[in-house]
Order: sequence, then C-alpha cells, then structure tokens
Amino acid sequence: MKIFRSIKKQQQYSFKEKCKGRVIGFVPTMGFLHKGHLSLIDKAKELSNRVIVSIFVNPLQFAPNEDYREYPRDEKRDLKLLEEKGVDTVLIPELNEMYPNGFETYVEVSKLSKDYCGRSRPLFFRGVATIVLKLFNTVQPDLAVFGEKDYQQYIIIKRMSRDLNLPIFVIPSPIVREEDGLAMSSRNLYLTPSERKEAPVLYESMRRVKELASKGERNVKNLKKEMVKFIESKKYPRIDYIEFVDPENLKRAKILQGPTRILLAVWIGKARLIDNMEV
Ligand code: PAF
Repeated sequence: MKIFRSIKKQQQYSFKEKCKGRVIGFVPTMGFLHKGHLSLIDKAKELSNRVIVSIFVNPLQFAPNEDYREYPRDEKRDLKLLEEKGVDTVLIPELNEMYPNGFETYVEVSKLSKDYCGRSRPLFFRGVATIVLKLFNTVQPDLAVFGEKDYQQYIIIKRMSRDLNLPIFVIPSPIVREEDGLAMSSRNLYLTPSERKEAPVLYESMRRVKELASKGERNVKNLKKEMVKFIESKKYPRIDYIEFVDPENLKRAKILQGPTRILLAVWIGKARLIDNMEV
C-alpha cells in the first residue's frame, strides 16, 4: 500500500494510473476509521480497480468552538485497517500544503448549505465542499463514495459536482449501524456509557415514525410530534432539528406523498449525532 503525504506525488500517481486505463475510486475520510468507512471502501472496490483513501481532519469544517483539536485521530490503526482492506493508496496531506499561507478560495453550495446542519454549523458545508474539491483535484478519481449517514453532505457534494461539471460520479453508500441501531460515527466515542445506552433513541424514533407512516399517517406535523415526544421522554437527548425532506433537493415536506427522508440532529451530552432514514 502506497502512502502519499505530498499532493504532487498523489497527482502523478493518479495520472499514471489513469493513463493505464485504471478506474480510480476514492473514499475521503477524516480517519479514526470504523465499519462505516470500511463499507465505503468495499463499495469503491466493487466499482473501480484502484482505491484511494484520504485521511485529513479538515480544520475548515470546524467552527472555533467545535472539536477540531479533540477530534479522534489514530493514524497507525487506520493504516493497518486500510492495508488489511487491500486499499491501493492512502493520501495523508500535510496541513500547510492543503492550506498554504494566504489561502482564500472557497467553494459554497449556497442554498443547500444553509438549512438543517448548516443552521447550527454555518461554515461547515463551505469547509466540506472546499476540501472535497481540493481532494478531488489531488486524487483525480473517476468516482467517489460518500456515506448516506451524512445525507446533506452527500447531496451537497453531488450538487457541487454537477454545478462545476466535475467528471466524477458521486456514489452514495448506506448507513452502517451498531446492533442496537446507532449509526456508526467517530463522534460516538464522546458518549459516556449512560448516554451511549440512550443513543439508539434516534434510530428508534425514525423506525416508529416509519411504521406509523406505513399504517397511513401522512401528516408530517403529526409524525414529527410523535418523534419529539419519544425523544424527549429520554434523559439525555436535546433535539437540534428534525425535518422531513425531499431526498433530492432537501425541500421540506408537509405531507408524505412521494419519496421522503427524515433528517435529524440531536445532542447527547457532548456529542451532536446526526442520522436519517427514508420513510
Ligand atoms: O465525511 C467526512 O468525513 C468529511 O466531511 C469529509 C467528506 C472527509 C471531508 O472532510
């Protein structure tokens, strides 16, 4: 497995591989890998013949009061997992090469970034779109895989790729859950044992609503009320938002009539957990 820390070296490698006709599949990550990330790699392997994974904790997507410094990191463990997975190349760019002095160019997917997670994290998606475009320019993949756990992020990257005519397929991959339903996330680490016990309430609340919908309840206001009641009956969770949206353009739905996705963000202790489900 090759490890590149230099942007130029990665670009040269990708250029050579493309000249040989290889299809490059890319999985961008912030490291501290779990089974969710590994499932993205499986998807990339299915669809390409060279898999490149990046590890970069992107400061641009953290506000000053957020967890950039504490964000969990374990490069040695990550590299071991990636080697075992049969990844071809790992890109671990240096911070000062990614963001040299005087850096001032950003990518903004304006409307899609404003709502939902963008409300409580106003610069988050600008940071994500900027780093993803920079990583795309470094890796030059034919396709890139994004987890549906970060559903708004996936839609934003898809829109950016379309709007900027990037020659890259943006592929979604389903959420991977713990046995009790909690969506896998590096931030689950922040949960204390008692908070962890309550964390599956997110998944459970969506499942209950899905069941109500299947029995005929179409009114989003009523469904949302049920979710809020259920989540608030627990000790730790504090709801940031719960919304029912069109899965393509993320517009809010009032009535379930066509494909709809529940998006939610809930604080449990120090951890802000996000999840979503098709309903
Ligand atoms: O989803 C993530 O881990 C990050 O937002 C990403 C896409 C790697 C960009 O930093």
